Amino acid sequence: MARKRGGLRARRVDVARGAAEAVKEVSMSVYLEELSAVGAVRFPDIPLYQGFGAPLRLESDLRDCEVIHGEVPKDLNGTLYRCGPDRQYPPLIGDDIFIDGEGMVNMFRFQNGHVDYKNRYVRTARFKLQAEHRRGLFGRYRNRYTHDPLVGDCNPGTANTNVVWHAGKLLALKEDDLPYELDPDTLETRGRYNYGGGIKSAWLSAHPHIDQATNELLTFAYQAKGDGTTDAVYYVIGADGKVKHEVWFNAPWAGMVHDFAISNDHVIFPFFPLLTDVELLKKGGPFYSWHRDKETVVAVVPRYGTADQIRWFRGPTSFAGHMMSGSTEGTKVSLDVCLSRGNSFAFFPNHDGAPADLSLGAPHLTRLTFDLAANTEEYKTTQLQDVLCEMPRTDDRYQGAGRYRHGYVICRDPSSTMAGGNPGLGAVGHFDLKTGNVQIWNPGPNSGVQEPCFAPRRPDSPDGDGYLLALVNRVEENRSDLAILDAQNLKAGPVAIVKLPVRVRMTFHGMWVPQEALDSGRYTAVRRG
Ligand SMILES: [Fe+2]
Repeated sequence: MARKRGGLRARRVDVARGAAEAVKEVSMSVYLEELSAVGAVRFPDIPLYQGFGAPLRLESDLRDCEVIHGEVPKDLNGTLYRCGPDRQYPPLIGDDIFIDGEGMVNMFRFQNGHVDYKNRYVRTARFKLQAEHRRGLFGRYRNRYTHDPLVGDCNPGTANTNVVWHAGKLLALKEDDLPYELDPDTLETRGRYNYGGGIKSAWLSAHPHIDQATNELLTFAYQAKGDGTTDAVYYVIGADGKVKHEVWFNAPWAGMVHDFAISNDHVIFPFFPLLTDVELLKKGGPFYSWHRDKETVVAVVPRYGTADQIRWFRGPTSFAGHMMSGSTEGTKVSLDVCLSRGNSFAFFPNHDGAPADLSLGAPHLTRLTFDLAANTEEYKTTQLQDVLCEMPRTDDRYQGAGRYRHGYVICRDPSSTMAGGNPGLGAVGHFDLKTGNVQIWNPGPNSGVQEPCFAPRRPDSPDGDGYLLALVNRVEENRSDLAILDAQNLKAGPVAIVKLPVRVRMTFHGMWVPQEALDSGRYTAVRRG
């Protein structure tokens, strides 16, 4: 099992300043040499691969999960799909960040009060190549200069970020590759998917938004012609699964655009200063580094407009991973987003070598308002809630509606303490944007939650009338629950808790797909109130 490690180590220590200080010399030589000697699967003995975050590497099927509390509502028929990273093999470089790892898709199928569970790896090109060689081949996160030579031109995507149902296809997504299509019942991987050749960008975002009233999927790509390029593209995919609108434009810099927002008339792209430097990549550096001296730039694009109609806005340094929703009312376009003053993705280092200032990375639900009629590039910033929160979601039927009343997040329970509950973003939150009320459900000590997904009670239920489905990490028991909450009454506690005998390691995103949408390939959204 001969390996050429020397070249990789030499490149990685070549950098001496700024973000490069995070380019640690690989001090894992013992790990690597042990690995090489035994030829076995052995993960580094570091916290990243221990406890609840340890790779699971297990695929399973469970018909009729245990229900350990309450009753699963019989009117909840459909499937919850979730996706997250789960390391197939120990990393090539001995250390990495938690967002890397092969995509594992989880599904919970609800039928007349029963819940069946299944999870499968997405058989990406990367997964299959590593399986063939029985080891990890890909180096530092998104840094193609650190991969094993066996990788060649193999697509690097892990399909580990999100899973969506659109135009009769189930797609697993990661923002540095094209989607992978899966069988919606078996989760078998069908292959890489480019909308019949309609996608010209190198990859697509993992955060498309579906307008369930028009059955359009709105998506984009950044660094769309390759690592370090400033090309960006916005696509509208029609209900028939074909590209119906496409806008290429030039981004202010080659940086991360992890998510965007859609309104009834616009799409909104925020550019936060988390930048890619190809020269740093060539030296083995991180894919992104934080430039705290740079401003925030936002592009507001007419939903069916052209590049020359884009309006650009500028504001103070800020960051957000995820958007709640967008809205257009007259000449005012707004973006509701979990915004922080600094880098909340602190696993990417500061460009200037300064330590991360975690106090600036605390996100709150914030509204940015852009006035298309004003002769200014400034925008207005209004914090909407005091609760620390991330992973914002709405009732999916209201994406693209331009209005919504109810938002859902993972959040910090202000009443929790180190002794009595999870002090991190370990609770589920509900924001009523009309009344300003906040409700929080805390799963209790030694437990955490994952991003909640909303499931309407019926296709024509009003906004907020339905359930929240949230995976709960039972850390001490090393397994997971699925909590089903009344979306308007979190304080009452779960309507039902579905017990899993296994751990769902950490999923990032996913969605609820009603049975009628699975059957027809179309959403039948009815928006009221
Ligand atoms: Fe995300």
